[in-house]
Amino acid sequence: MEMALRFFSFCILLAGTVPVSSSILIPNNISRTCPYKSSCNSSVNLRHIEMLRDCVDNTKDPCDDFYAYACGNWKRNYTATSTSEDQINSQYKYLIENVSRNPRSPEYRQPVYGKLATYYQHCLALRSSNLRRYLELLNLPTSLNSTNWMDLLSGLGQYGYRGHFVEVTVRWHNSSQHMIFVEPHNHRLNLNFTLDIYEALPQGDFPASYSTLRDQFVRLENQLSSLVKSHETDDSFTVYSLDEIQNKVPELNWTEALTKQLNRTSIGGDHSFQVDDLPAIREIVIVLNSMDRRLLNLYSLARFLQYLLQLPHNPLATLESDGGMRSLRCIRQMRRVVYIPMNYAYERNYYAPRRISDEFVIRKVFGELREKLEEAVRSNPFQVQPDLVDQLTEKVQKMRINVGNLPPNASEQFYSDVDRRWKVGEDFYEDHLNGLLFYYSIVAELEGGVDSYSQSIWYSFNMHSPDFGDNIDATPYFHCLSNMILVPYSYVKLPFFHADFWPALLYGDLANTLGHEMLHAFDTFLMDYDAQGNMRNFSDQLIKEPLYKTALDCLDQSDGILNERIPDVSGSRLAIRTYMGDWLSLPDNGQLYFIQFAHFFCGDEGDKYHESGSQRLNFAVSQVPKFAEIFECKEGSKINSSPQCPFW
Ligand SMILES: *[C@@H]1O[C@H](CO)[C@@H](O)[C@H](O)[C@H]1NC(C)=O
Ligand SMILES: *[C@@H]1O[C@H](CO)[C@@H](O)[C@H](O)[C@H]1NC(C)=O
Ligand SMILES: *[C@@H]1O[C@H](CO)[C@@H](O)[C@H](O)[C@H]1NC(C)=O
Ligand SMILES: *[C@@H]1O[C@H](CO)[C@@H](O)[C@H](O)[C@H]1NC(C)=O
Ligand SMILES: *[C@@H]1O[C@H](CO)[C@@H](O)[C@H](O)[C@H]1NC(C)=O
Ligand SMILES: *[C@@H]1O[C@H](CO)[C@@H](O)[C@H](O)[C@H]1NC(C)=O
Ligand SMILES: *[C@@H]1O[C@H](CO)[C@@H](O)[C@H](O)[C@H]1NC(C)=O
Ligand SMILES: *[C@@H]1O[C@H](CO)[C@@H](O)[C@H](O)[C@H]1NC(C)=O
Ligand SMILES: *[C@@H]1O[C@H](CO)[C@@H](O)[C@H](O)[C@H]1NC(C)=O
Ligand SMILES: *[C@@H]1O[C@H](CO)[C@@H](O)[C@H](O)[C@H]1NC(C)=O
Ligand SMILES: *[C@@H]1O[C@H](CO)[C@@H](O)[C@H](O)[C@H]1NC(C)=O
Ligand SMILES: [Zn+2]
Repeated sequence: MEMALRFFSFCILLAGTVPVSSSILIPNNISRTCPYKSSCNSSVNLRHIEMLRDCVDNTKDPCDDFYAYACGNWKRNYTATSTSEDQINSQYKYLIENVSRNPRSPEYRQPVYGKLATYYQHCLALRSSNLRRYLELLNLPTSLNSTNWMDLLSGLGQYGYRGHFVEVTVRWHNSSQHMIFVEPHNHRLNLNFTLDIYEALPQGDFPASYSTLRDQFVRLENQLSSLVKSHETDDSFTVYSLDEIQNKVPELNWTEALTKQLNRTSIGGDHSFQVDDLPAIREIVIVLNSMDRRLLNLYSLARFLQYLLQLPHNPLATLESDGGMRSLRCIRQMRRVVYIPMNYAYERNYYAPRRISDEFVIRKVFGELREKLEEAVRSNPFQVQPDLVDQLTEKVQKMRINVGNLPPNASEQFYSDVDRRWKVGEDFYEDHLNGLLFYYSIVAELEGGVDSYSQSIWYSFNMHSPDFGDNIDATPYFHCLSNMILVPYSYVKLPFFHADFWPALLYGDLANTLGHEMLHAFDTFLMDYDAQGNMRNFSDQLIKEPLYKTALDCLDQSDGILNERIPDVSGSRLAIRTYMGDWLSLPDNGQLYFIQFAHFFCGDEGDKYHESGSQRLNFAVSQVPKFAEIFECKEGSKINSSPQCPFW
């Protein structure tokens, strides 16, 4: 409750600013029915409208600068999205601390909870960084001299580390398959060899000083870099069987290397791999085979330690300076490393009671949007070939949605099986490594094909890898390989969503957000993925059509970021088409709809990929003619004067 209150005090009317227009947002003239429920809680809606109204600056003209109008009294430096994530972190902290304090509670006997409490306690108990402990836990051979460089590298690969010499990665490939990708050394990433890492390395029989070793590592990197730079890669992968790789690069025992990395007993010679630049890989292998094994292995261990330290929220990276924030850092690290157990606990304790009614409403709106988008694609505005229309239509029809961060419909058995595979240990270091091993062993297993029931569960949500950034969990996103929109827990809450929302509030954010994400399937990056997540040449076909080319040029005429403009503009149009109908006959419904839409952007300063909230919102509404009509914007006002860019 305390957190909800914090939220509702975001927008404060400054003393002296008296609302000018009183017709706006007096919720008399808006629909109070909920479209997909028999009744909805008025107080949820009224409080929300009040909160929105507090953010509106009535001294500003919405037709001139809608952001200044709708977000004018937003007094914060951050967005509602970041607040939502903070709330979830606090809920986790509360839950796990409560469980930790009550080892006799029934939860302790459920899968997951006891181990989460243990991991958390170990993380809190960290006093000083002991990187050597990570290496002890790897059970390294006594002599690094006698170990082949690829043998050690494959072992590290089990923890998800890949990044030098030869990269072997298991990646999600399309809607129903993982594949193994093999790439040459990444010369853009180098080791930052710190004293801490040096001191953690095994010194063995031939200790070298820090600076000697550092110089040797730099020489090694330069040598590798000269090998791969001449083959500047474009990540164009070729499929090879294991036998073919072995024939073309006989200097390495690939069967041995790959079975170890994937934790298999055997891999058939006809197993296929996606390989980038095999000739460069061969040169690297030949050079490395002639080098000092101990040096190569020390380098691998140093890179591995750096990888662990750089994984998101590793508390060891900020041990001295985390002043009171340790518990939060531990929670955030656990959310990355042990994604499934953490989300399982969240679902059970916080989301389960609301899931059925939320999901019902969300799926309805999603279904309507999908239908409207299908109509738009079939109407073929760019006059593309019928075959392409069919494939794009299929992409829309097969688009899926997942609410929350867990797979839909997974049984308790599924989670207890998952739980059995996951171990905690004696301390933070062991918990961290075990968590990584747990995640990457599942991924490796998926590549080998498990039974079809498990397969369908694992491919029905985006199992996050531990190195993902936090923003991936903060708002819904489109996952091109599975052709699916993922709606994380942080979105299915106020101020974005409530199953009891009246239509203007419900569609104002949900339809715009889902519409935006659906249109990402048609942005210039993700266009090329088909309904099954396979890479095709759709954009090559499209760009040949003059009408499409004109549309892209129109959207990108300023310094805008094209791949966000497409979904901003086209997604907003899709949303209003879906919302239209009877509701817009009530004047306040339209205004409230747009003000709710605007709220998402309040306080958003933009980033590398996104313009600021103000630019995005104003541009989007200038491309939705209904906006000018609803706010009665005069011809020639800023928002009612942009040329309309055609798009789907
Ligand atoms: C609601 O809107 C209608 C049509 O625009 C108008 O005639 C009516 O006066 C409005 N009612 C209230 C209570 O504002
Ligand atoms: C309606 O929502 C409010 C919170 O806004 C809550 O206190 C109240 O119990 C809810 N009423 C019903 C009938 O669920
Ligand atoms: C807002 O954020 C910027 C940079 O992120 C920071 O420099 C500034 O102090 C913040 N302002 C407030 C009021 O928190
Ligand atoms: C905290 O744990 C105790 C003991 O298991 C339980 O009775 C209580 O409901 C928990 N509190 C919350 C808010 O989950
Ligand atoms: C996924 O990719 C593999 C390999 O390219 C292919 O054989 C398979 O048919 C694809 N799956 C689907 C559903 O298209
Ligand atoms: C290397 O790591 C140190 C300590 O973590 C850091 O201060 C420094 O900025 C890093 N250097 C580079 C080039 O990343
Ligand atoms: C790779 O090593 C295995 C034993 O680990 C051996 O059976 C196999 O013949 C080797 N393959 C090649 C191509 O050397
Ligand atoms: C697979 O992984 C488990 C756990 O890490 C390990 O005990 C086992 O030896 C591995 N098996 C193979 C074939 O690598
Ligand atoms: C390790 O390798 C170095 C150089 O490659 C060699 O001089 C040394 O004798 C080896 N040590 C052991 C214990 O094998
Ligand atoms: C989940 O179960 C429901 C009811 O059995 C079913 O309609 C739905 O298709 C299932 N969802 C998925 C993604 O399997
Ligand atoms: C796209 O690929 C198909 C084969 O899948 C080919 O027939 C067609 O010529 C390609 N079109 C373009 C524009 O590259
Ligand atoms: Zn986007």
